[in-house]
Amino acid sequence: MAQEKLWGGRFSQPTDKFVEEFTASIQFDKRLYSQDIRGSIAHAEMLGRQGIISAADVEAIVGGLREILDQIEQGTFDFSVSLEDIHMNIEARLSEKIGEAGKRLHTGRSRNDQVALDIRLYLRDEIAEITSYLDLLVDSLLFQAEKNINVMMPGFTHLQTAQPILFAHHMLAYVEMFKRDKGRMEDCLKRVNVLPLGAGALAGTTFPIDREFVADRLGFPEVTRNSLDSVSDRDFALEFISAASILMMHLSRFSEELILWSTSEFRFVELSDSFCTGSSIMPQKKNPDVPELVRGKTGRVYGNLMALLTVMKSLPLAYNKDMQEDKEPLFDTIDTVKGSLKIFADMIREMRVNADRMLQAAGGGFSTATDVADYLVRKGVPFRDAHEVVGKVVRYCIDEDMTLEELSLAEWQLFSMQIQEDIFAAITLEASVNARSATGGTALERVRQEIERARSGK
Ligand code: ARG
Repeated sequence: MAQEKLWGGRFSQPTDKFVEEFTASIQFDKRLYSQDIRGSIAHAEMLGRQGIISAADVEAIVGGLREILDQIEQGTFDFSVSLEDIHMNIEARLSEKIGEAGKRLHTGRSRNDQVALDIRLYLRDEIAEITSYLDLLVDSLLFQAEKNINVMMPGFTHLQTAQPILFAHHMLAYVEMFKRDKGRMEDCLKRVNVLPLGAGALAGTTFPIDREFVADRLGFPEVTRNSLDSVSDRDFALEFISAASILMMHLSRFSEELILWSTSEFRFVELSDSFCTGSSIMPQKKNPDVPELVRGKTGRVYGNLMALLTVMKSLPLAYNKDMQEDKEPLFDTIDTVKGSLKIFADMIREMRVNADRMLQAAGGGFSTATDVADYLVRKGVPFRDAHEVVGKVVRYCIDEDMTLEELSLAEWQLFSMQIQEDIFAAITLEASVNARSATGGTALERVRQEIERARSGK
Protein backbone atom coordinates (compact mmCIF):
# COMPACT_ATOMS: atom_id res chain seq x y z
CA MET A 1 0.00 0.00 0.00
CA ALA A 2 1.43 3.39 -1.00
CA GLN A 3 2.11 5.64 1.96
CA GLU A 4 1.93 9.40 2.16
CA LYS A 5 5.49 10.76 1.90
CA LEU A 6 6.88 12.60 4.91
CA TRP A 7 8.50 15.04 2.47
CA GLY A 8 5.55 15.16 0.01
CA GLY A 9 4.76 18.87 0.50
CA ARG A 10 6.65 20.33 -2.51
CA PHE A 11 5.81 17.48 -4.91
CA SER A 12 2.87 17.41 -7.32
CA GLN A 13 3.39 13.92 -8.81
CA PRO A 14 3.76 10.64 -6.97
CA THR A 15 7.11 8.82 -7.11
CA ASP A 16 7.43 6.25 -9.87
CA LYS A 17 7.05 2.76 -8.38
CA PHE A 18 10.36 1.51 -9.65
CA VAL A 19 12.18 4.69 -8.63
CA GLU A 20 10.70 4.25 -5.19
CA GLU A 21 12.12 0.76 -4.91
CA PHE A 22 15.42 1.75 -6.46
CA THR A 23 16.00 4.62 -4.05
CA ALA A 24 14.73 2.89 -0.91
CA SER A 25 17.07 1.47 1.69
CA ILE A 26 14.52 -0.09 4.04
CA GLN A 27 15.33 -3.54 2.62
CA PHE A 28 18.72 -3.39 4.31
CA ASP A 29 18.72 -0.51 6.80
CA LYS A 30 15.89 -2.02 8.84
CA ARG A 31 18.58 -3.65 10.88
CA LEU A 32 19.27 -0.21 12.38
CA TYR A 33 15.85 -0.14 14.05
CA SER A 34 16.95 -0.40 17.67
CA GLN A 35 19.70 2.22 17.23
CA ASP A 36 17.23 4.49 15.46
CA ILE A 37 14.78 4.20 18.34
CA ARG A 38 17.46 4.65 20.99
CA GLY A 39 18.64 7.80 19.22
CA SER A 40 15.12 9.16 18.84
CA ILE A 41 14.34 8.63 22.51
CA ALA A 42 17.46 10.53 23.58
CA HIS A 43 16.68 13.29 21.06
CA ALA A 44 13.06 13.62 22.28
CA GLU A 45 14.17 13.74 25.91
CA MET A 46 16.63 16.48 25.07
CA LEU A 47 13.94 18.46 23.17
CA GLY A 48 11.70 18.21 26.24
CA ARG A 49 14.43 19.21 28.64
CA GLN A 50 15.25 22.26 26.53
CA GLY A 51 11.57 23.28 26.42
CA ILE A 52 11.45 22.79 22.64
CA ILE A 53 8.59 20.28 22.96
CA SER A 54 6.29 19.62 25.93
CA ALA A 55 6.80 16.97 28.59
CA ALA A 56 3.54 15.34 27.48
CA ASP A 57 4.87 15.06 23.92
CA VAL A 58 8.08 13.46 25.17
CA GLU A 59 6.08 10.93 27.12
CA ALA A 60 3.91 10.06 24.14
CA ILE A 61 6.94 9.81 21.84
CA VAL A 62 8.92 7.58 24.16
CA GLY A 63 5.91 5.33 24.82
CA GLY A 64 5.11 5.09 21.11
CA LEU A 65 8.70 4.32 20.18
CA ARG A 66 8.87 1.55 22.79
CA GLU A 67 5.75 -0.03 21.32
CA ILE A 68 7.24 0.14 17.85
CA LEU A 69 10.41 -1.49 19.15
CA ASP A 70 8.34 -4.36 20.54
CA GLN A 71 6.45 -4.76 17.31
CA ILE A 72 9.62 -4.89 15.25
CA GLU A 73 11.12 -7.41 17.62
CA GLN A 74 8.02 -9.58 17.48
CA GLY A 75 7.95 -9.37 13.70
CA THR A 76 4.55 -7.67 13.56
CA PHE A 77 5.81 -4.34 12.19
CA ASP A 78 4.92 -3.81 8.55
CA PHE A 79 7.91 -2.21 6.77
CA SER A 80 6.97 -0.15 3.76
CA VAL A 81 9.19 0.49 0.74
CA SER A 82 7.35 3.70 -0.07
CA LEU A 83 8.52 5.04 3.29
CA GLU A 84 12.03 4.62 1.93
CA ASP A 85 14.16 3.91 4.98
CA ILE A 86 14.08 2.83 8.60
CA HIS A 87 14.00 6.42 9.86
CA MET A 88 10.83 7.31 8.01
CA ASN A 89 9.19 3.94 8.59
CA ILE A 90 9.50 4.42 12.32
CA GLU A 91 8.60 8.10 12.32
CA ALA A 92 5.52 7.62 10.14
CA ARG A 93 4.30 4.76 12.33
CA LEU A 94 4.86 6.87 15.40
CA SER A 95 2.71 9.68 14.03
CA GLU A 96 0.02 7.18 13.07
CA LYS A 97 0.05 5.95 16.64
CA ILE A 98 0.29 9.13 18.67
CA GLY A 99 -0.65 11.91 16.21
CA GLU A 100 0.72 15.46 16.61
CA ALA A 101 3.43 14.60 19.15
CA GLY A 102 4.94 12.12 16.70
CA LYS A 103 5.25 14.84 14.11
CA ARG A 104 7.28 16.96 16.52
CA LEU A 105 10.04 14.34 16.98
CA HIS A 106 12.01 15.47 13.94
CA THR A 107 12.38 19.04 15.29
CA GLY A 108 16.01 20.19 15.18
CA ARG A 109 17.13 17.05 13.42
CA SER A 110 17.57 15.76 9.88
CA ARG A 111 17.83 12.27 8.47
CA ASN A 112 21.39 13.18 7.58
CA ASP A 113 22.57 13.48 11.17
CA GLN A 114 20.12 10.76 12.22
CA VAL A 115 21.56 8.14 9.87
CA ALA A 116 25.11 9.11 10.86
CA LEU A 117 24.11 8.56 14.48
CA ASP A 118 22.44 5.21 13.80
CA ILE A 119 25.44 3.77 11.96
CA ARG A 120 27.81 4.90 14.68
CA LEU A 121 25.65 3.34 17.40
CA TYR A 122 25.31 0.16 15.40
CA LEU A 123 29.00 -0.14 14.60
CA ARG A 124 29.93 0.58 18.21
CA ASP A 125 27.87 -2.41 19.37
CA GLU A 126 29.24 -4.63 16.64
CA ILE A 127 32.86 -3.72 17.32
CA ALA A 128 32.34 -4.81 20.92
CA GLU A 129 31.08 -8.17 19.66
CA ILE A 130 33.91 -8.56 17.19
CA THR A 131 36.53 -7.91 19.85
CA SER A 132 34.90 -10.51 22.07
CA TYR A 133 35.04 -13.04 19.20
CA LEU A 134 38.71 -12.15 18.76
CA ASP A 135 39.22 -12.97 22.44
CA LEU A 136 37.53 -16.34 21.91
CA LEU A 137 39.80 -17.16 18.99
CA VAL A 138 42.91 -16.14 20.94
CA ASP A 139 41.67 -18.36 23.73
CA SER A 140 41.40 -21.35 21.39
CA LEU A 141 44.91 -20.71 20.08
CA LEU A 142 46.30 -20.56 23.61
CA PHE A 143 44.41 -23.74 24.47
CA GLN A 144 46.10 -25.58 21.57
CA ALA A 145 49.47 -24.02 22.37
CA GLU A 146 49.29 -25.19 25.98
CA LYS A 147 47.92 -28.62 25.16
CA ASN A 148 50.69 -29.26 22.63
CA ILE A 149 53.45 -27.37 24.37
CA ASN A 150 56.13 -29.97 23.56
CA VAL A 151 55.16 -30.59 19.96
CA MET A 152 57.85 -29.68 17.45
CA MET A 153 57.27 -28.92 13.80
CA PRO A 154 59.28 -27.55 10.92
CA GLY A 155 59.22 -23.79 10.54
CA PHE A 156 59.18 -22.68 6.92
CA THR A 157 60.44 -19.91 4.74
CA HIS A 158 59.46 -19.99 1.06
CA LEU A 159 57.37 -22.97 2.19
CA GLN A 160 60.65 -24.92 2.39
CA THR A 161 61.73 -26.48 5.68
CA ALA A 162 63.84 -23.89 7.48
CA GLN A 163 64.33 -24.52 11.20
CA PRO A 164 62.54 -26.58 13.82
CA ILE A 165 60.08 -24.64 15.97
CA LEU A 166 57.46 -25.41 18.56
CA PHE A 167 53.93 -25.84 17.22
CA ALA A 168 52.89 -23.58 20.13
CA HIS A 169 55.20 -20.88 18.80
CA HIS A 170 53.38 -21.07 15.48
CA MET A 171 50.01 -20.73 17.24
CA LEU A 172 51.35 -17.75 19.19
CA ALA A 173 52.26 -16.00 15.95
CA TYR A 174 48.52 -15.89 15.20
CA VAL A 175 47.82 -14.74 18.75
CA GLU A 176 50.01 -11.71 18.00
CA MET A 177 48.14 -11.00 14.76
CA PHE A 178 44.70 -11.25 16.35
CA LYS A 179 45.78 -9.10 19.27
CA ARG A 180 46.84 -6.41 16.83
CA ASP A 181 43.49 -6.80 15.06
CA LYS A 182 41.78 -6.21 18.37
CA GLY A 183 43.93 -3.13 18.92
CA ARG A 184 42.94 -1.80 15.50
CA MET A 185 39.26 -2.35 16.28
CA GLU A 186 39.60 -0.57 19.62
CA ASP A 187 41.43 2.30 18.00
CA CYS A 188 38.80 2.65 15.30
CA LEU A 189 36.14 2.65 18.02
CA LYS A 190 37.52 5.93 19.36
CA ARG A 191 36.52 7.65 16.13
CA VAL A 192 33.23 5.76 15.82
CA ASN A 193 32.25 6.79 19.31
CA VAL A 194 31.50 10.47 18.61
CA LEU A 195 27.98 11.93 18.51
CA PRO A 196 27.04 13.51 15.14
CA LEU A 197 23.41 14.34 16.05
CA GLY A 198 22.78 18.07 16.16
CA ALA A 199 24.38 18.77 12.80
CA GLY A 200 20.93 18.97 11.26
CA ALA A 201 20.89 18.65 7.49
CA LEU A 202 24.35 20.20 7.21
CA ALA A 203 24.66 23.56 8.99
CA GLY A 204 23.39 22.96 12.50
CA THR A 205 19.97 23.88 13.87
CA THR A 206 18.18 27.05 14.92
CA PHE A 207 16.78 25.38 18.05
CA PRO A 208 18.56 25.63 21.42
CA ILE A 209 19.55 21.96 21.51
CA ASP A 210 21.91 20.37 24.03
CA ARG A 211 24.17 17.98 22.18
CA GLU A 212 26.23 17.14 25.25
CA PHE A 213 23.09 15.90 27.00
CA VAL A 214 22.28 13.59 24.07
CA ALA A 215 25.90 12.40 23.97
CA ASP A 216 25.73 11.59 27.64
CA ARG A 217 22.41 9.71 27.30
CA LEU A 218 23.81 7.61 24.47
CA GLY A 219 27.21 7.04 26.03
CA PHE A 220 29.28 9.06 23.58
CA PRO A 221 32.39 10.58 25.21
CA GLU A 222 32.54 13.32 22.55
CA VAL A 223 30.43 15.29 20.09
CA THR A 224 31.52 16.12 16.54
CA ARG A 225 32.85 19.68 16.06
CA ASN A 226 31.72 20.56 12.54
CA SER A 227 28.21 20.07 11.21
CA LEU A 228 29.27 19.60 7.57
CA ASP A 229 31.77 16.96 8.53
CA SER A 230 29.30 15.31 10.91
CA VAL A 231 26.87 14.40 8.13
CA SER A 232 29.40 13.61 5.43
CA ASP A 233 32.06 11.68 7.34
CA ARG A 234 32.24 7.93 6.79
CA ASP A 235 35.93 7.62 7.68
CA PHE A 236 34.97 5.62 10.74
CA ALA A 237 33.26 3.00 8.56
CA LEU A 238 36.22 2.91 6.19
CA GLU A 239 38.59 2.47 9.08
CA PHE A 240 36.49 -0.37 10.36
CA ILE A 241 36.42 -2.15 7.01
CA SER A 242 40.18 -1.59 6.63
CA ALA A 243 40.80 -3.17 10.02
CA ALA A 244 38.39 -5.95 9.05
CA SER A 245 40.28 -6.51 5.79
CA ILE A 246 43.56 -6.94 7.65
CA LEU A 247 41.85 -9.29 10.07
CA MET A 248 40.46 -11.36 7.18
CA MET A 249 43.90 -11.38 5.58
CA HIS A 250 45.22 -12.99 8.79
CA LEU A 251 42.39 -15.52 8.77
CA SER A 252 43.11 -16.31 5.12
CA ARG A 253 46.76 -17.06 5.88
CA PHE A 254 45.74 -19.28 8.74
CA SER A 255 43.15 -20.95 6.49
CA GLU A 256 45.77 -21.64 3.87
CA GLU A 257 48.02 -23.32 6.43
CA LEU A 258 45.21 -25.43 7.83
CA ILE A 259 44.25 -26.54 4.34
CA LEU A 260 47.84 -27.48 3.59
CA TRP A 261 48.37 -29.15 6.97
CA SER A 262 45.22 -31.26 6.46
CA THR A 263 46.45 -32.80 3.19
CA SER A 264 47.46 -36.47 3.16
CA GLU A 265 50.94 -35.23 2.21
CA PHE A 266 51.31 -33.11 5.36
CA ARG A 267 48.90 -34.69 7.89
CA PHE A 268 50.01 -32.17 10.57
CA VAL A 269 46.48 -31.60 11.82
CA GLU A 270 43.05 -33.08 11.52
CA LEU A 271 40.02 -30.82 11.51
CA SER A 272 36.98 -32.14 13.27
CA ASP A 273 34.41 -33.79 10.95
CA SER A 274 31.87 -31.13 11.80
CA PHE A 275 33.98 -28.52 9.98
CA CYS A 276 34.51 -30.57 6.83
CA THR A 277 32.43 -32.15 4.08
CA GLY A 278 32.77 -35.15 1.82
CA SER A 279 32.74 -35.48 -1.94
CA SER A 280 29.76 -36.78 -3.87
CA ILE A 281 32.02 -38.92 -6.07
CA MET A 282 35.26 -39.63 -4.20
CA PRO A 283 34.47 -41.64 -1.08
CA GLN A 284 37.85 -41.06 0.60
CA LYS A 285 37.55 -37.25 0.64
CA LYS A 286 37.24 -34.99 3.63
CA ASN A 287 37.40 -31.42 2.47
CA PRO A 288 38.43 -28.49 4.70
CA ASP A 289 35.43 -26.40 3.63
CA VAL A 290 35.47 -23.98 6.55
CA PRO A 291 39.01 -22.66 6.08
CA GLU A 292 38.49 -22.67 2.31
CA LEU A 293 35.34 -20.56 2.64
CA VAL A 294 36.93 -18.15 5.08
CA ARG A 295 39.84 -17.78 2.67
CA GLY A 296 37.32 -17.07 -0.07
CA LYS A 297 35.26 -14.64 2.02
CA THR A 298 38.36 -12.52 2.51
CA GLY A 299 37.74 -11.40 -1.07
CA ARG A 300 34.32 -9.98 -0.32
CA VAL A 301 35.61 -7.94 2.62
CA TYR A 302 38.38 -6.43 0.45
CA GLY A 303 35.65 -5.78 -2.12
CA ASN A 304 33.56 -3.99 0.50
CA LEU A 305 36.51 -1.77 1.33
CA MET A 306 36.99 -0.86 -2.33
CA ALA A 307 33.24 -0.30 -2.73
CA LEU A 308 32.98 2.18 0.13
CA LEU A 309 36.23 3.97 -0.74
CA THR A 310 34.87 4.40 -4.24
CA VAL A 311 31.46 5.59 -3.02
CA MET A 312 33.16 8.27 -0.93
CA LYS A 313 35.70 9.30 -3.53
CA SER A 314 35.21 12.87 -4.79
CA LEU A 315 31.89 13.39 -2.97
CA PRO A 316 31.32 17.09 -2.43
CA LEU A 317 30.27 18.22 1.06
CA ALA A 318 27.98 17.54 2.74
CA TYR A 319 25.47 14.64 2.54
CA ASN A 320 24.86 13.00 -0.84
CA LYS A 321 22.49 10.14 -1.54
CA ASP A 322 25.48 8.11 -2.74
CA MET A 323 26.22 7.60 0.94
CA GLN A 324 23.22 5.36 1.35
CA GLU A 325 25.49 2.83 -0.38
CA ASP A 326 27.62 2.70 2.77
CA LYS A 327 25.35 0.23 4.51
CA GLU A 328 25.49 -2.98 2.53
CA PRO A 329 29.31 -3.18 2.43
CA LEU A 330 29.44 -2.29 6.10
CA PHE A 331 26.82 -4.83 7.16
CA ASP A 332 28.28 -7.54 4.96
CA THR A 333 31.71 -6.93 6.46
CA ILE A 334 30.34 -7.19 9.99
CA ASP A 335 28.49 -10.43 9.21
CA THR A 336 31.44 -11.97 7.42
CA VAL A 337 33.98 -11.10 10.10
CA LYS A 338 31.77 -12.24 12.95
CA GLY A 339 30.90 -15.51 11.25
CA SER A 340 34.50 -16.24 10.30
CA LEU A 341 35.84 -15.50 13.77
CA LYS A 342 33.19 -17.53 15.52
CA ILE A 343 33.66 -20.59 13.34
CA PHE A 344 37.44 -20.35 13.60
CA ALA A 345 37.36 -20.13 17.39
CA ASP A 346 35.37 -23.38 17.51
CA MET A 347 37.31 -25.15 14.78
CA ILE A 348 40.73 -24.40 16.28
CA ARG A 349 39.63 -25.60 19.69
CA GLU A 350 38.53 -28.94 18.21
CA MET A 351 41.50 -29.39 15.87
CA ARG A 352 43.60 -32.54 16.43
CA VAL A 353 47.37 -32.16 16.24
CA ASN A 354 49.47 -35.00 14.83
CA ALA A 355 52.60 -34.65 16.98
CA ASP A 356 54.42 -37.65 15.47
CA ARG A 357 53.97 -36.46 11.95
CA MET A 358 55.12 -32.96 12.80
CA LEU A 359 58.15 -34.24 14.68
CA GLN A 360 59.11 -36.45 11.76
CA ALA A 361 58.83 -33.48 9.40
CA ALA A 362 60.73 -31.24 11.81
CA GLY A 363 63.77 -33.48 11.47
CA GLY A 364 63.67 -33.52 7.67
CA GLY A 365 65.09 -31.06 5.20
CA PHE A 366 68.35 -30.56 7.14
CA SER A 367 66.44 -28.27 9.47
CA THR A 368 69.33 -28.08 11.94
CA ALA A 369 71.91 -26.94 9.41
CA THR A 370 71.92 -23.42 10.89
CA ASP A 371 72.66 -24.96 14.28
CA VAL A 372 75.79 -26.61 12.86
CA ALA A 373 76.92 -23.25 11.49
CA ASP A 374 76.23 -21.58 14.85
CA TYR A 375 78.18 -24.41 16.54
CA LEU A 376 81.22 -23.65 14.36
CA VAL A 377 80.91 -19.94 15.13
CA ARG A 378 81.07 -20.76 18.83
CA LYS A 379 84.30 -22.66 18.05
CA GLY A 380 85.76 -19.49 16.55
CA VAL A 381 84.97 -19.98 12.85
CA PRO A 382 83.68 -16.79 11.14
CA PHE A 383 79.97 -17.21 10.24
CA ARG A 384 80.46 -16.94 6.46
CA ASP A 385 83.09 -19.71 6.51
CA ALA A 386 80.89 -21.81 8.77
CA HIS A 387 77.99 -21.38 6.32
CA GLU A 388 80.21 -22.62 3.48
CA VAL A 389 81.36 -25.66 5.47
CA VAL A 390 77.81 -26.67 6.37
CA GLY A 391 76.70 -26.22 2.77
CA LYS A 392 79.29 -28.81 1.80
CA VAL A 393 78.16 -31.15 4.59
CA VAL A 394 74.58 -30.93 3.34
CA ARG A 395 75.72 -31.65 -0.23
CA TYR A 396 77.59 -34.72 1.08
CA CYS A 397 74.49 -35.92 2.96
CA ILE A 398 72.32 -35.51 -0.15
CA ASP A 399 74.80 -37.54 -2.22
CA GLU A 400 75.08 -40.24 0.45
CA ASP A 401 71.34 -40.15 1.22
CA MET A 402 71.97 -39.44 4.90
CA THR A 403 70.68 -37.04 7.50
CA LEU A 404 72.96 -34.76 9.56
CA GLU A 405 72.25 -36.88 12.64
CA GLU A 406 73.58 -39.98 10.91
CA LEU A 407 77.08 -38.60 10.22
CA SER A 408 79.93 -40.06 12.25
CA LEU A 409 82.49 -37.81 13.94
CA ALA A 410 85.05 -38.90 11.34
CA GLU A 411 82.74 -37.79 8.57
CA TRP A 412 82.10 -34.44 10.27
CA GLN A 413 85.81 -33.94 10.57
CA LEU A 414 86.27 -34.37 6.83
CA PHE A 415 84.75 -30.88 6.66
CA SER A 416 86.17 -29.19 9.73
CA MET A 417 88.57 -30.24 12.46
CA GLN A 418 86.76 -27.82 14.80
CA ILE A 419 83.92 -30.30 15.02
CA GLN A 420 84.07 -32.44 18.16
CA GLU A 421 82.03 -35.06 19.95
CA ASP A 422 79.69 -32.34 21.32
CA ILE A 423 78.27 -31.79 17.81
CA PHE A 424 75.74 -34.58 18.38
CA ALA A 425 74.10 -32.86 21.35
CA ALA A 426 74.17 -29.50 19.57
CA ILE A 427 72.05 -30.58 16.65
CA THR A 428 69.15 -32.42 18.24
CA LEU A 429 65.76 -30.85 17.56
CA GLU A 430 65.33 -29.97 21.24
CA ALA A 431 68.73 -28.27 21.35
CA SER A 432 67.93 -26.36 18.19
CA VAL A 433 64.59 -25.12 19.51
CA ASN A 434 65.75 -24.36 23.03
CA ALA A 435 68.82 -22.48 21.91
CA ARG A 436 66.57 -19.77 20.50
CA SER A 437 65.80 -18.29 23.85
CA ALA A 438 65.93 -14.53 23.38
CA THR A 439 62.64 -12.64 23.59
CA GLY A 440 60.41 -13.71 20.73
CA GLY A 441 62.27 -16.98 20.11
CA THR A 442 60.88 -20.52 19.94
CA ALA A 443 62.63 -21.94 23.06
CA LEU A 444 60.24 -23.88 25.29
CA GLU A 445 60.71 -21.58 28.30
CA ARG A 446 60.14 -18.49 26.16
CA VAL A 447 57.01 -19.91 24.64
CA ARG A 448 55.67 -20.82 28.08
CA GLN A 449 56.26 -17.25 29.22
CA GLU A 450 54.53 -15.85 26.16
CA ILE A 451 51.50 -18.06 26.75
CA GLU A 452 51.36 -16.70 30.31
CA ARG A 453 51.72 -13.17 29.06
CA ALA A 454 48.95 -13.58 26.49
CA ARG A 455 46.71 -15.21 29.12
CA SER A 456 47.19 -12.28 31.45
CA GLY A 457 45.93 -10.03 28.64
CA LYS A 458 49.17 -8.12 28.03
N1 ARG B 1 18.43 6.37 3.86
C1 ARG B 1 19.33 7.46 3.86
C2 ARG B 1 20.78 6.99 3.92
O1 ARG B 1 20.96 5.88 4.23
C3 ARG B 1 19.07 8.35 5.02
C4 ARG B 1 19.50 9.75 4.83
C5 ARG B 1 18.71 10.37 3.76
N2 ARG B 1 18.83 11.76 3.68
C6 ARG B 1 18.33 12.44 2.62
N3 ARG B 1 18.45 13.69 2.63
N4 ARG B 1 17.79 11.80 1.62
O2 ARG B 1 21.72 7.70 3.67
